[in-house]
Amino acid sequence: MARARSRSLLLGAPAVSMGPPRAFVPLLLLLLGTSGFFQSDAVEVDLKDGANATCLYANWMMKFLITYETNSSDYKNTTLNLPSNVTHDGSVCGSDTQAALLAVQFGQGHSWSVNFTKTNETYQADFVTFTYNTNDTTVFPDAKRKGPVTIVVKGTMQPVQLNNVFVCHNTDFLDAESVTQIFWNVTVQAFVQNGTIGKKESRCHADTPTAAPTVPPTVANVTTASTTTASPAPTTAPKPVENPETGNYSLKSGNKTCLLANVGLQLNVSQDKPLLININPKTTRADGACGNTTATLKLNDGNSTLIGFTFVVKNVSKTAQKFYLKEVNVTLLNRLNGSVISNADNSNFSKWDAFLGTSYMCQKEQTLEISDNIQIHTFNLWIQPFLVVENKFSTAQECSLDDDDILIPIVVGAALAGLIAIIVLAYVIGRRKSYAGYQTL
Ligand SMILES: *[C@@H]1O[C@H](CO)[C@@H](O)[C@H](O)[C@H]1NC(C)=O
Ligand SMILES: *[C@@H]1O[C@H](CO)[C@@H](O)[C@H](O)[C@H]1NC(C)=O
Ligand SMILES: *[C@@H]1O[C@H](CO)[C@@H](O)[C@H](O)[C@H]1NC(C)=O
Ligand SMILES: *[C@@H]1O[C@H](CO)[C@@H](O)[C@H](O)[C@H]1NC(C)=O
Ligand SMILES: *[C@@H]1O[C@H](CO)[C@@H](O)[C@H](O)[C@H]1NC(C)=O
Ligand SMILES: *[C@@H]1O[C@H](CO)[C@@H](O)[C@H](O)[C@H]1NC(C)=O
Ligand SMILES: *[C@@H]1O[C@H](CO)[C@@H](O)[C@H](O)[C@H]1NC(C)=O
Ligand SMILES: *[C@@H]1O[C@H](CO)[C@@H](O)[C@H](O)[C@H]1NC(C)=O
Ligand SMILES: *[C@@H]1O[C@H](CO)[C@@H](O)[C@H](O)[C@H]1NC(C)=O
Ligand SMILES: *[C@@H]1O[C@H](CO)[C@@H](O)[C@H](O)[C@H]1NC(C)=O
Ligand SMILES: *[C@@H]1O[C@H](CO)[C@@H](O)[C@H](O)[C@H]1NC(C)=O
Ligand SMILES: *[C@@H]1O[C@H](CO)[C@@H](O)[C@H](O)[C@H]1NC(C)=O
Repeated sequence: MARARSRSLLLGAPAVSMGPPRAFVPLLLLLLGTSGFFQSDAVEVDLKDGANATCLYANWMMKFLITYETNSSDYKNTTLNLPSNVTHDGSVCGSDTQAALLAVQFGQGHSWSVNFTKTNETYQADFVTFTYNTNDTTVFPDAKRKGPVTIVVKGTMQPVQLNNVFVCHNTDFLDAESVTQIFWNVTVQAFVQNGTIGKKESRCHADTPTAAPTVPPTVANVTTASTTTASPAPTTAPKPVENPETGNYSLKSGNKTCLLANVGLQLNVSQDKPLLININPKTTRADGACGNTTATLKLNDGNSTLIGFTFVVKNVSKTAQKFYLKEVNVTLLNRLNGSVISNADNSNFSKWDAFLGTSYMCQKEQTLEISDNIQIHTFNLWIQPFLVVENKFSTAQECSLDDDDILIPIVVGAALAGLIAIIVLAYVIGRRKSYAGYQTL
């Protein structure tokens, strides 16, 4: 039988970093002071076997971002933090033939678990199971459906050498259905032998120095060339000058595509100086929820950036309905020490509107102001958040007509037309006069 002891902290999961840790630090530090840095605790589980020896050890930090439907059929976001006390009933040491299981329960009916499998030389996470209970009114006020919701996600943790301890300080997240699970400061070892935690660490890719330069590379040539002068600290972060690649994102409801979005996204984060971040579609995963009157598209770039778009439907007349973009939310995560650094939200948009059943298109660059410090530039936008038929965009309404920029040509055109009218008038009057003149002759 397994005995376990858990210490006051929160928990996170072993997960894999999906890519090199990026030169995200300066941005994070910049933002740290500004907003929404919420603190989490760590959770520790030290599971013992029948001989009172540690067989499974984990210490990690974790939080959940959950979207749920409210009584008014709106979708709301909530953050579920683990309390400092968790239980870990049902955790299992595991063996050659049985999977190990790390399971914790917390709050009002929430639980989280991950099972590990072992091969000859390695162990790895198999599935992560998360159950949240929308009955918990402090976390899910006004939830439409009350009761437990369970999601299961394939773990992304890389295989770890047996007897090694897996360590990942960088943030990683798992996106599934309406939940983003965020982990950081993870230490875990399954199938511990002889009760001794491994002395050798397997670090996640994101933590390894080659993959993760913690300072932006200096502008090499210039600074190294001038060897005589003490080169001032490089202050400019690298700026992508090129436009972002256009991503093709979609959501499904059952096996039917319910939302389509083609768009190139560039984040403009400014504090003391602007920093442009192109969202890479190749590493970006789409998630969200379709609804009849509300749809959300959440993009996770696998690189510490989460962007969410909320579309709603409005009546424009007795019979006609339009959809429009109502809300945009940007969450930036600190890839190096974990945690949410910034969460900017603007729910007062009234953009990208088109009749229900059609799509909205805008090829040229547009800017969405999310907060004082964060803007999103969109390129080659083509979106249809409702009533997608057979995986294809319906007729597009283009942005050009209701666009500010087009106003100038219209004004100029109108002025020109006026001028022409005046000239024609003057000509006609002039001709009349001279005709009259001839007559008098
Ligand atoms: C991750 O973000 C950093 C900083 O914005 C960027 O330099 C890097 O190219 C990004 N990596 C990927 C895979 O998108
Ligand atoms: C297990 O070990 C702990 C200390 O490591 C000790 O306090 C506890 O009494 C032991 N329990 C049993 C059942 O041996
Ligand atoms: C955790 O602590 C809170 C208050 O501190 C308490 O109400 C709750 O019952 C505790 N939960 C567990 C699982 O011990
Ligand atoms: C594991 O060990 C068995 C028997 O020793 C061997 O047949 C098998 O190929 C090994 N598997 C791996 C992945 O090394
Ligand atoms: C791990 O858990 C998942 C979900 O409960 C389950 O489907 C899977 O079979 C488990 N893996 C093993 C090896 O038991
Ligand atoms: C939700 O909570 C109420 C009271 O707290 C309880 O009566 C009900 O059975 C719960 N429902 C579910 C699905 O857990
Ligand atoms: C991660 O862990 C280190 C030490 O283990 C700690 O100093 C740091 O504060 C932790 N990070 C966060 C965000 O709690
Ligand atoms: C565990 O103990 C066994 C014998 O008790 C020993 O042969 C083995 O080397 C030990 N393994 C580790 C990883 O210490
Ligand atoms: C920058 O350095 C690289 C390699 O050190 C060199 O090939 C290149 O010519 C240099 N560029 C300039 C502008 O000096
Ligand atoms: C999914 O689509 C297939 C055909 O593409 C259809 O046969 C099947 O019934 C659909 N399943 C559901 C759950 O709608
Ligand atoms: C959404 O629309 C479908 C089809 O028109 C309808 O069957 C369904 O009941 C609607 N759902 C809600 C929540 O209104
Ligand atoms: C919910 O979170 C997503 C990002 O995860 C964001 O895009 C969306 O705007 C948020 N919605 C609300 C209602 O806050």
